[in-house]
Formats: sequence, structure tokens, C-alpha cells
Amino acid sequence: MKTKARLLAGRIAVVTIIVVVALFVIVKFMPQAKPQAPSQAGLQTEPQAEFQAEPQKKSLVLYFSRAENIADASEYLNTLGGDVDAITSASVLMTDSGKITGNVGLLARWIAEEAGADIHSIHVKDLYPQPKKETQNIVLQEQLDGVWPEIVPSTEEFDQYDVIYIGFPNWYAEPPRALYTFLEENDLDGKIIIPFTSDDTNGFSDSVDILKSKLPNAAVLSVEDGLLVNRKELFDAKERTQKWVKTVALKAESAKNDPLSTSEGQKAAAQALIGQTVTHEEIKEKVGEDISFSKGTNGCAREITSGRFYYPGFVIYCQSDDHGKTYTVLSID
Ligand SMILES: Cc1cc2nc3c(=O)[nH]c(=O)nc-3n(C[C@H](O)[C@H](O)[C@H](O)COP(=O)(O)O)c2cc1C
Repeated sequence: MKTKARLLAGRIAVVTIIVVVALFVIVKFMPQAKPQAPSQAGLQTEPQAEFQAEPQKKSLVLYFSRAENIADASEYLNTLGGDVDAITSASVLMTDSGKITGNVGLLARWIAEEAGADIHSIHVKDLYPQPKKETQNIVLQEQLDGVWPEIVPSTEEFDQYDVIYIGFPNWYAEPPRALYTFLEENDLDGKIIIPFTSDDTNGFSDSVDILKSKLPNAAVLSVEDGLLVNRKELFDAKERTQKWVKTVALKAESAKNDPLSTSEGQKAAAQALIGQTVTHEEIKEKVGEDISFSKGTNGCAREITSGRFYYPGFVIYCQSDDHGKTYTVLSID
């Protein structure tokens, strides 16, 4: 009995020692909560600097549509899904929520819905008149006179957006000039711009190159990446628009890391070529696709002596060598 009792006492002692050692180790090596610096009497201590994740940026759909810029638009309303332009030869539609809009306005809503984006419509201060012919006369005169119509100032905070879809109808090969006023009054530097348009017969015309030259520090996606919906196909285009939003979002992501996606980036790449002798293909590879190019000849001799490559916002001037097979880049202007 005595031996059993001793054995038991021995075991208890060993267990006790193990527990004490374990407790010591835990207390000694457990990470301690840092003591707070004592706050001064009546003063708040500085909050500990915490890692703040960049707030997720949103997308915006910015657009101009004629029906939202004419007087008494509701008098000229067409049936949504019906024969657009049949009644007044103007695209005046009503959205599900009872708002008057036009073809581009409808596309804008589909895009915003699919992309989860905010939406902003550009409005001129002086509305255009009905019938359409009168608007057309005014627009042609605006183009001849270089007029940019006044717009209702925007109160949007554009800093919160990184991707901006910009939509407009084709108005004589350009976007409506109210868009130029908007771009002059608002800073869209550093944004990814995704163009979309609705036309009658002329597609985008020069609108995307115009956008690129007006926004040299924004990455403007190309005509090929943009969305073009002819006014006669509008009501069959919802699904196509939704699919386009999904694919173009990926292109917008890759544009963020492409130095040639801005006109300023292209110009810098062109400047790096000054003094070098290159082929047209090499210029395209290093600077991107040109809008057009021309070759100058020296009169009767018909030997090609110069080459000009036109980009949105600048021109590459070259001395042509080897009868136009290669070009020595002289200046960028
Ligand atoms: C003033 C004016 C000029 C236009 N010029 C052209 C043109 O040059 N080429 C073209 O394809 N469509 C032209 N259109 C047609 C519009 O681009 C087309 O109807 C578009 O779908 C209208 O969009 P909206 O309803 O959003 O304004 C013009 C329309 C107007 C009102």
C-alpha cells in the first residue's frame, strides 16, 4: 500500500511540474498585446496607422442623346420597340421608368445595367429644335463656325470612376459638339474611355480619333473595341450590347497596363524614334496604328522624299529613304 501511495505521489509531482513548466512557457512566449501609449490628459492619442485598401473604383456611362436635348420632346414620342423615326424622323423614346431618351440613351441604360455603372447625360443649355432638319442645320453651322454649345454644368465627382463609357450619335462624322464642351470642362485624365455610338450609315466616322486627341492622357479604346449600333437595329441589340460589355471590360483592364493606349504614350514612343531609320511596319509596331500617312515627292523626278504619319494629336515627319521602303524619323509635331 505504502509503495502504491508513493508511486501515486510521484506521478502527481511529475504532472504538476509539467503543468508549471507549460504555463511558464505559454506566459513567456505568447505574443503580448502592445501597451497603448498613455494618452495625455484631455488629448486623444493618435489613431494607429492602419492599412487602407484603395476604394474600389466604379464605372460611369456618360452620353449625349438628341431626344434629351430638344424642346417638347414628349410630343414626338415613338413607341419603344416600334418603328423608330417613322413618325417624326427623330428618335424619341420612353424608358421603363418614364424618362424621355433617344437611341444612344437607350444603349447607355443597357450598358449601365450590365456593367453596374452610374449614368450621366450631357444636356445643352439651349435646346435644339424639332423638326430634325432644323437641328441638322444648326449642327452644320456649329461645325462650320467651330462652335461648342454651352452645357448644363456637371456636379459629378469623376475621381470615383476609373472606366468611363462615352456614347454619342454620329452627327456629320463627329460626336455632338456638346461633348467637346464637356471634355473641356471636366478632367478625365487617367481614365479608360470606352466609346459607343449609334448611327444612320456612317459608323463612328472620325469620332474615336477626335476623342483620342481631345483626351491625350486617357486610354481611349479603339473603334474595333467600341460598340456601334445602327439606329435601325437598335431594338435587336440588347443582347449584343450585354455581351459586348463583358468582353470590353477585359480589354479595359489590359489597356491600363499598355503605354500605347494613350495618345501621350504614343507620342512618347514616336519621340523615341527620332533619328532612327525604320519601316512603316516598325512604326506601327512601336507607336501603334496610324490614322493615315502620306508620301511627298520632289516634283518631276517622282522620287519619294518625305513621309508623314498622322496620329490623334500629332504627326511623325520623316525623310523617306530607298523610295519609301524606309523612313528616317526627323520630328514629331
Ligand atoms: C444633326 C444630325 C446629324 C446626323 N448626321 C449623321 C451622319 O453624318 N451620319 C450618320 O450615319 N448618321 C447621322 N445622324 C443620325 C444619327 O446618328 C442616328 O439617328 C442616331 O441613332 C441618333 O441617336 P440619338 O437618338 O441618341 O440622338 C445624324 C442625326 C442628326 C440629328
